[in-house]
Amino acid sequence: MSYNLLKGKRGIIFGALDSNSIAWKTAERVHEEGGQFVLTNAPVAMRMGQINELAEKTGSQIIPADATSLEDLQNLIDQSMEILGGKIDFVLHSIGMSINVRKGKHYTDQNYDWTQKGTDVSAMSFHKLMQTLYKSDAMNEWGSIVALTYMAAQRVFPDYNDMADNKAYLESIARSFGYFFGRDKKVRVNTISQSPTPTTAGSGVKGFDGFIAYAEKMSPLGNATALDCANYTVAMFSDLTKRVTLQNLYNDGGFSNMGVSDAVMSTFVGDE
Ligand code: NAI
Repeated sequence: MSYNLLKGKRGIIFGALDSNSIAWKTAERVHEEGGQFVLTNAPVAMRMGQINELAEKTGSQIIPADATSLEDLQNLIDQSMEILGGKIDFVLHSIGMSINVRKGKHYTDQNYDWTQKGTDVSAMSFHKLMQTLYKSDAMNEWGSIVALTYMAAQRVFPDYNDMADNKAYLESIARSFGYFFGRDKKVRVNTISQSPTPTTAGSGVKGFDGFIAYAEKMSPLGNATALDCANYTVAMFSDLTKRVTLQNLYNDGGFSNMGVSDAVMSTFVGDE
């Protein structure tokens, strides 16, 4: 169902790799709600991704950018304003990557070159993106910036590895930069903390199937899907959430406030 919530708004969406990506679903929903946007991803991801299909479907253009490169980000922002015909109203940062996770390096045995690369891609890129937007004065007043995160920033999930630290850093950047963006430009900055979701990045985490099944049983409303996340992001981009900022917003079916559920308990106790 469409409510035209984003009619007349212009944005940039990072991170649509394939149709499972949370950013892909978000692009589809933003399009349905009347928003116009530029799609972007790392040049290497474009070669293997199916982003052209999404661009065609949503009538958008694609500008490759490595989110760790200030030069790429500047070019992306300048070109996006030209293509879209004005300043930006919404930005989705949907980027995450850990080489330690990908190569099965344990948290207690990090390769620090990989750790640093993962931090740059998964967290510092958010600072670089916002600093480039801020210095270029590229955001419209009452614009909205959202990054995606996971609850391993607050609680221990051993196999989430160094991504847990990257997410903690990402969430802190949202608050710290969000202050200046709010004070100086009336732009809001938030993170959405999403349930485990079967995507390329998600499935790379060791034991992901167990992880997702456990979260499903713990959450009174069940795991939030990629589409649920897309819908939440649409709400955060819309004028209905104008003074929500500096928040880490859980979209997780209630998981983050649970201690234990009947469904999980029943696997530990026999019939009485
Ligand atoms: P995905 O694998 O579809 O998306 C990750 C994206 O990051 C890809 O499009 C990839 O090309 C992009 N990327 C990697 N390096 C980049 C770089 N240097 N420059 C620009 N883009 C780069 O997976 P998903 O799950 O849609 O991930 C999106 C976001 O959601 C990530 O921040 C992830 O950590 C977060 N998230 C995912 C959860 C899950 O279980 N799938 C749960 C909670 C948060």
